[in-house]
Amino acid sequence: MLVDLVIRNATIVSSEAMFVGSIAIRDGVIVAIGLDETMPDSMESLDARGRYVLPGAIDAHVHFREPGFSHKETWESGTASAAMGGVTTVFEMPNTRPPTRDLETLNLKLKAASSAYVDFGIYGLLGEDNLDQLENLIEGGVAAFKCFMGNTFANLPSPPTGAILEGFEIIAKHGYRIALHAENASIMARRQLALQACGRCDPLAHLAARPPVVAVEAVSRAAILAEWTGARIHILHVSSGDELRPIREAKQRGVDITAETCPHYLLLDEKAYTEKGSLVRVNPPVREKVHQDQLWVGVQDRTIDMIATDHAPHSKEEKHNDDIWGADCGFTGVETQMPLMLTQVAKGRLSLMDYVRMTSTAPARAFGLFPRKGALLPGSDADIVVIDMDREGAVDEAVLQSLGPSTPFHQYPIKGVPVHTLVRGRFVMKDRKLVTAARGHGLNVRRVQQMPTPAPRNLEHTTAAITGKDRA
Ligand code: DOR
Ligand code: ZN
Repeated sequence: MLVDLVIRNATIVSSEAMFVGSIAIRDGVIVAIGLDETMPDSMESLDARGRYVLPGAIDAHVHFREPGFSHKETWESGTASAAMGGVTTVFEMPNTRPPTRDLETLNLKLKAASSAYVDFGIYGLLGEDNLDQLENLIEGGVAAFKCFMGNTFANLPSPPTGAILEGFEIIAKHGYRIALHAENASIMARRQLALQACGRCDPLAHLAARPPVVAVEAVSRAAILAEWTGARIHILHVSSGDELRPIREAKQRGVDITAETCPHYLLLDEKAYTEKGSLVRVNPPVREKVHQDQLWVGVQDRTIDMIATDHAPHSKEEKHNDDIWGADCGFTGVETQMPLMLTQVAKGRLSLMDYVRMTSTAPARAFGLFPRKGALLPGSDADIVVIDMDREGAVDEAVLQSLGPSTPFHQYPIKGVPVHTLVRGRFVMKDRKLVTAARGHGLNVRRVQQMPTPAPRNLEHTTAAITGKDRA
């Protein structure tokens, strides 16, 4: 057999094992993995001695802004960032303009995504006004759903609990996972008004408006609705230690619930508000050090399944504001996650295998992509990142691909950098350079998605059943 490429003599890392060997790739798929002398003949070979080879990261939480806010980010710039950051698949959020709420708006997004360097899944919106569109979105090719329980950028209204329940009932029948921005909108709105009424507009007022109970209430409510309906859910951006208890308890009750946190919650604390000002404004907020410590415990005991970025770029002008309420929330992340977290691996806070599990294998499993993605196995897509764990430097917003590169991690010292990224066997980043010819190589992952058989519950109580409108 003649193959396209052999990556030779690397330390190959999966979530289960680590060994020195080589990987053979043909037609975008891994065809052999093992000792170098067992490899088939190849057209090309890449010497990776002294380097590590990992399954590419799958970032289950990015905002690429197109259509509607292309000055902040585009699919081209966002996926170029992903390629440079060792990320081979992204899941993109629906709070664009228009929001991804029906077939028409999904098709607009798919058109924008045709410039992607890396593979992608699209989140469809679960909102109060588009419950009748959820099944069309599934047919049209979304990978999962997103529900904003707390209001956020683009002002999508948070659906009332009754609408969320109906959405869960519908989606549970299809087994698709529903990702939740789990913050209680009403508590936050009242706190913010109270803070504004007494003249607070300093950066720490943002934290004061969103105490952990905001998240704990929403996580608990989502878990109850998921338990009732059998819906699969994913808690986005866990920011507080307090959320871990309802997540653990839901897992113990058998709820199909996964959770992610982000590098900013693991690496920043309240000091960032004084040091970085409005730049650090993000929803949910970066919190006090005690939460950071508890989140690391949640990472170690696997209450937190994955690390995603909530890549949420805005322009410099939109990020900087002396009035905290006027600064846009979120910052770039898809390109900085890997060096930031590999630095924690280098410090001994996380093993490389745990890193692979949290950034690749777990998201692949949760969203039905495993083992085509999230694995280095014969038959898996050759979505691969080669990393240099000895390379040191600092995060530098001047070299990021994002159109909104402002980040509170600017100048953060790093050790461990992705040097090559391959998506289905094709280099999208080589020797730290973007392969511009690979623009448009990215595909919708729906092509490989295999959700396990759904287990909806309490079907006799659904709104559809009691009104006789159940399609099934
Ligand atoms: O800070 C945030 N910004 N949090 C979110 O959940 C959304 C995001 C955005 O779209 O800007
Ligand atoms: Zn987000």
